[in-house]
Amino acid sequence: MGSASEFVVVANRLPVDLETLPDGSTRWKRSPGGLVTALEPILRGKKGAWVGWPGVPDTDLGPIVEDGIELHPVRLSAQEVADYYEGFSNATLWPLYHDVIVKPVYDRSWWNAYVEVNRRFAEATSAAAAHGATVWIQDYQLQLVPKMLRMLRPDLTIGFFLHIPFPPVELFMQMPWRREIVEGLLGADLIGFHLPGGAQNFLYLARRLAGQQTSRGNVGVRSKLGVVQVGFRNVRVGAFPISIDSGQLDELSRTKSVRDRAKQIRKELGNPGKIMLGVDRLDYTKGIDVRLNAIRELLEEGRMDPAQNIMVQLATPSRERVESYIQMRGDIEQQVGRINGEFGQVGRPVVHYLHRPIPRQELISFFVAADVMLVTPLRDGMNLVAKEYVACRSDLGGALLLSEFTGAAAELRQAYQANPHDLDGVKDEMVAALTQDREAGRRRMRAMRRQVLAHDVDRWAKSFLSALARDSVAGGALLGD
Ligand code: ADP
Ligand code: G6P
Repeated sequence: MGSASEFVVVANRLPVDLETLPDGSTRWKRSPGGLVTALEPILRGKKGAWVGWPGVPDTDLGPIVEDGIELHPVRLSAQEVADYYEGFSNATLWPLYHDVIVKPVYDRSWWNAYVEVNRRFAEATSAAAAHGATVWIQDYQLQLVPKMLRMLRPDLTIGFFLHIPFPPVELFMQMPWRREIVEGLLGADLIGFHLPGGAQNFLYLARRLAGQQTSRGNVGVRSKLGVVQVGFRNVRVGAFPISIDSGQLDELSRTKSVRDRAKQIRKELGNPGKIMLGVDRLDYTKGIDVRLNAIRELLEEGRMDPAQNIMVQLATPSRERVESYIQMRGDIEQQVGRINGEFGQVGRPVVHYLHRPIPRQELISFFVAADVMLVTPLRDGMNLVAKEYVACRSDLGGALLLSEFTGAAAELRQAYQANPHDLDGVKDEMVAALTQDREAGRRRMRAMRRQVLAHDVDRWAKSFLSALARDSVAGGALLGD
């Protein structure tokens, strides 16, 4: 191992994935998803270390420095990728925490692999962290690490942040290993959620499942932390809505190259009246089917003109070996084909669909080019895409259609908000966004930009880390303060 670090981020994935090229050589590429988008700029600024999996099985790598960040790769076998990552993390926890949109699978051998791999992450972190260091553990894949790490290294200050929703108590109670998970998290000094509701659900479970005393007052946003008393320790619980590097996106979106490319994109799409855009990991939580159904019905009803309105869906491949993802991909591609088959013309499809990651600069150009951004998840912890779109619209143009069931909906009140289960409601809001009055649209966008530019990812990290630091010195803080 390299020299021990004062600040260590621990996440299932490293910020980069190891990719093997056809000629057998390897290179690093950016990992998918919002966690990496948010944390990478933070860590780069803090000169810390990052413990995580390099994205491919059976790979032994020592610590490396990549782009200014010290990376500590954790090895997973092919069986562990199947059981811990694809199984327990993404076919048990992910659907359970996202309102059981698909049915979670409870498999004892997957659970055993989850325990085993969490232990390996705890050991790797213990080896990377300096005496008295601050360790920040991320997300649902590593919920047992806080307790395991505390047992190995009581000198550390340990924070945990959950990037996805924390489910309603009634759903969480399905989990056969529910007590172990709550106790695993309680190894941290501070546990962060996006929304106060998640923090409150957790406090209830800490009382009910772990038998601990907790504060009873309401948790605020970045304020009024809850407290769980675990022996002589006070574990704090709070709401810290995550964000993006909004200043950087704002700046990039104003550059000539992005502006030019945005115009060119419009031209390549045939200069349609309105461009709608979806940008997501290809995941069933994202409600890509919802927006496609809304578009198809509007076309069928003659409320949308296929010659004037087109949609672009940019979908990053995700968890491609998990059964529910395989099935969903087929369904979405069938929906796209059906719309184009019925309403497209040769050389002029209604829905343009790309199944691949798009380079950052190109993605920003799409945000600038799009008239209506479609963000319609059935459930999403935050949804950074919604914030990215807003950050890219310094021209105050464009409109955001946003599901009420995203964390972002609590902050972006001026979006066209809809319940994704109410298809007529989604259609009405889509039409309203497409036909908005220019001035009214500018007012909405200005208000949303104020929120996103003032609450960036730096502020998120600072608010969490300063609460964590306060925690460690406060030591004996009283319940309910
Ligand atoms: P999640 O974390 O569930 O993937 P978020 O919306 O919070 O969802 O974050 C997704 C991140 O991945 C954003 O930074 C977004 O720009 C990026 N992303 C999504 N789809 C693509 C794509 N097709 N190409 C490149 N980046 C993408
Ligand atoms: C979400 C999760 C992250 C995860 C990312 C990409 O953002 O909160 O923990 O890394 O999706 O998913 P993947 O399974 O490819 O890591």
